[in-house]
Amino acid sequence: MSARIIPVQPFDYVVFGATGDLTKRKLIPALYHRFADGQFDERSRIIGVSRTEMSDKAFQKLARDAVTEFVEADYQDKATVDKFISCFSYVANDVSNRDGWADLEKALRTDPEIVRAFYLAVAPSLFGPICEYLDNKGYWRRDARVVVEKPLGHDLASSMEINDAISEVFAEDQVYRIDHYLGKETVQNLLALRFGNILFEPIWDAAHIDHVQITVSEDVGAGTRGYYDDSGALRDMVQNHMMQLLCLVAMEPPASDDANALRDEKLKVLRSLKPITGESVSKCTVRGQYKGGAVNGGSVAGYQDELPEDKKGSKTETFVAIKAEVENWRWSGVPFYLRTGKRLANRVSEIVIQFRAIPHSIFDHAEGAPKPNRLVIRLQPDEGVKLFLMIKDPGPGGMRLREVPLNLSFAETFNERTPEAYERLLLDVIRGNQTLFMRRDELEAAWRWIDPIREAWDNSSDAPQTYTSGTWGPTGSVALIERDGRTWHEGDY
Ligand code: BG6
Repeated sequence: MSARIIPVQPFDYVVFGATGDLTKRKLIPALYHRFADGQFDERSRIIGVSRTEMSDKAFQKLARDAVTEFVEADYQDKATVDKFISCFSYVANDVSNRDGWADLEKALRTDPEIVRAFYLAVAPSLFGPICEYLDNKGYWRRDARVVVEKPLGHDLASSMEINDAISEVFAEDQVYRIDHYLGKETVQNLLALRFGNILFEPIWDAAHIDHVQITVSEDVGAGTRGYYDDSGALRDMVQNHMMQLLCLVAMEPPASDDANALRDEKLKVLRSLKPITGESVSKCTVRGQYKGGAVNGGSVAGYQDELPEDKKGSKTETFVAIKAEVENWRWSGVPFYLRTGKRLANRVSEIVIQFRAIPHSIFDHAEGAPKPNRLVIRLQPDEGVKLFLMIKDPGPGGMRLREVPLNLSFAETFNERTPEAYERLLLDVIRGNQTLFMRRDELEAAWRWIDPIREAWDNSSDAPQTYTSGTWGPTGSVALIERDGRTWHEGDY
């Protein structure tokens, strides 16, 4: 079955931070794909805004270059690119410059059929000031939408400040907080897998599941990325992406796919997380920082060596492992082991559901003991689902038990390009569908759980454990899970 293209209403997408990296690498290529698939028409406008003085033509060139560089050559078609580029215009505007705001007002169309969206691809310190300007009849409409991205604060207090500033101007149903993991096809597939099949739900609980592992590993480094050192893996990956994945695995079935029905259930999970505070921080968390080593056959420098002089000696973590627990009836006693890091052996994001052992084996005389079942949901790369089952080795020679995966590879089954997360999310904003965006209370509940961990680390004199680039992280991460008599899943990577 091939993808169904449902066109969206025409729009004015105003992108603040139009010359930035996110716009070039992610937003423009994503919009291009949607345009090339015929999902939005030529009446739609993408209006770039940033401080740099630039003509419409120069901005169109920037957009064209972004397509050339970040869209695979097979999908670039000269005539389509030309038409796409003609949707772009530009307004130079320093947030504090009134002239620029007047120009932007002129660029916006007043036809109520044209959806109006403001994408703030700028530092969060500018969210408040920009929203203040947008609180003006020239821009604000009850149906206008504002899109914001992480970092939405560095702790609960700062995230509340940001949300307060936004909510002075926009109602919650106008605010689209992006966690790009929610836009990934395979992450959405978790919903299909859990709630589109009868098989899993009856056994999706503590009686049948021993534990869950969520791994998001990257082979890239981080020391040269300016902001990373102030953030670290806990804020950069765990507070948002990893916790969202945990919610989708652990939540109760929502009554419908309505945005709030789903987000209510995710919120309940976040609120049921056992707090990790005081002494339990050292028992349930591990942080690491990479040293030099070899990744994918090439040698790489350590985090400290990549940092600029004034940051040397930084204790920022580039790896985190956490043993989390969801304290409710369904999950009582089932640990959720999370791990994420930079410069690990491979780039892989995976959720492993480890089922319990069978209660009684009838195979006393068989060769090989039955192993507990395991469901592995591979989010990227090589998206797919593997269900490890016990089968009898074919042929004579007695009962020989063997573990074999039922293997659903999306690439083999669908033979289609997997859309990038932003393609879905950018157009969901236009559709007015908030299902895959974080609600304020979710974000704040996530910070409430993260803050005590961060504080304990900051107050500790210990440094993160070092690990060699190209490995699976510090030894403490192995100890974290092996202390409980379990091991990290080692896939075919
Ligand atoms: C971003 C983090 O949110 O997610 C990055 O800031 C990280 O540090 C990236 O590299 C990972 O995203 P993806 O889609 O490549 O898995």
